[in-house]
Amino acid sequence: MADKLIIFDTTLRDGEQSPGASMTRDEKLRIARQLERLKVDVIEAGFAASSNGDFESVKAIAQAIKESTVCSLARANDRDISRAAEALHGGASTRIHVFLATSALHMEKKLRMTPDQVFEQAKQSIRFARNLSGDVEFSPEDGYRSDPDFLCRVLEAVIAEGATTINIPDTVGYAIPELYGNFILDLRRRIPNSDKAIWSVHCHNDLGMAVANSLAGVKIGGARQVECTINGLGERAGNCALEEVVMAVRTRRDYFGLDLGIDATQIVPASRLVSQTTGFVVQPNKAVVGANAFAHASGIHQDGVLKARDTYEIMRAEDVGWATNKIVLGKLSGRNAFKQRLSDLGIELASESEVNAAFAKFKELADRKSEIFDEDITALVMDESVTAEQEHFRLLALSQHSEMGERPHATVAFAAGTDEFHADSDGNGPVDASLKAIESKVQSGAELVLYSVNAITSGSTESQGEVTVRLQLGGRVVNGVGADPDIVVASAKAYLAALNKLHSKNERVAAQG
Ligand code: KIV
Ligand code: ZN
Repeated sequence: MADKLIIFDTTLRDGEQSPGASMTRDEKLRIARQLERLKVDVIEAGFAASSNGDFESVKAIAQAIKESTVCSLARANDRDISRAAEALHGGASTRIHVFLATSALHMEKKLRMTPDQVFEQAKQSIRFARNLSGDVEFSPEDGYRSDPDFLCRVLEAVIAEGATTINIPDTVGYAIPELYGNFILDLRRRIPNSDKAIWSVHCHNDLGMAVANSLAGVKIGGARQVECTINGLGERAGNCALEEVVMAVRTRRDYFGLDLGIDATQIVPASRLVSQTTGFVVQPNKAVVGANAFAHASGIHQDGVLKARDTYEIMRAEDVGWATNKIVLGKLSGRNAFKQRLSDLGIELASESEVNAAFAKFKELADRKSEIFDEDITALVMDESVTAEQEHFRLLALSQHSEMGERPHATVAFAAGTDEFHADSDGNGPVDASLKAIESKVQSGAELVLYSVNAITSGSTESQGEVTVRLQLGGRVVNGVGADPDIVVASAKAYLAALNKLHSKNERVAAQG
């Protein structure tokens, strides 16, 4: 029997560290449920001690998820580890992931600790964590740039204390595939008790090699766990992309000889959900999940694929879930059909009143748009008026007038808590006028650093527009996403969604830095 490769998804922890990608508890729960459908082995749900919001998210995910192991990150101290254990308490299968930097640079400049102090702290923290959980992972942060002799000393000691997984982060994306693979192989050969733990890879994409490095860690180094994120989400250039690693190992089973527990047909739905939730658009030519990944434009390719698929295709679009992009409901669909579709999509709304609110939104949309796709339904339930999470800023009404040669004008009504505001403004275009109208009352002072519009479903101008707005204020960066067939309305929703994120003062401790 082939070895199994464990897929450890960290979209909700390392992915979320990407500026602007912060998610609410309900958004994280929805993504965790999709990751469970994807059958990832481990879901890193967050960093419980970093903020109350993260604690609550880890807790909710640990309670809800039954098929995947739920993990929380923790710094190597008793408080963080206890907080992780508390958040995970009662979960079906849980893991505590402890990290401590081991590179000379990080120890001296960031931790201001000597190597001996780091050694002791690593040992003690794993001993403490093992008293609270049977499943404990240790990551020497900036491991790849650490002195191999020191790393061997620390890793041997933490394995002796009971660490069950040893993860080697390439925290700054500095590795080269062959070197990283051999680095791990060397550690495994030199550490006498290395066979008592599962070895794991965790690569960042600064040089565009996160996937290649991870695969080398598996093939050359013998790692049996890959840490990755959906769409490669993550700070700077991102993390290793789950969909690429999974499809590489699956498509080239002849080379890797490894089994995976993943249900690949859930890859595209997961990619869409993460993109819609965070506002991080997937580039069209992105492997596996990009809109063009299976589109053959040239005549020669099209002809070849029609004659025999495998002339130009090494994977089938439907195997990674592209077939789900179909018309699912229409104007005449009833509440039961709608509810069934929500359940097929794995969307669990908290109460019947949320289902009713979502159904009312669906009917409204079906009146304006004849074909409703799965993506429309996902966008619709993300609308703050559907979920129980009552947002501070809510759009109530918007009208705008634009005529060629005239300056556009917008009037916007919105709620802020229990107050209602009416504002109007001119602008360079109707979107500019609407956002200026909102800002004239809110006076957030935030800088608009990104504005983008995408069609939720491709191919027609009837599609809903999905707008992402990124705001920056005093060092904080937040994304807001809004969807509507009217892109001016979608823009106002996105702007208010971003203001809501700025409004929730959920400050957290960063895992790195
Ligand atoms: O990149 C990194 O070093 C990490 C650790 C906290 C595991 O994300
Ligand atoms: Zn990382």
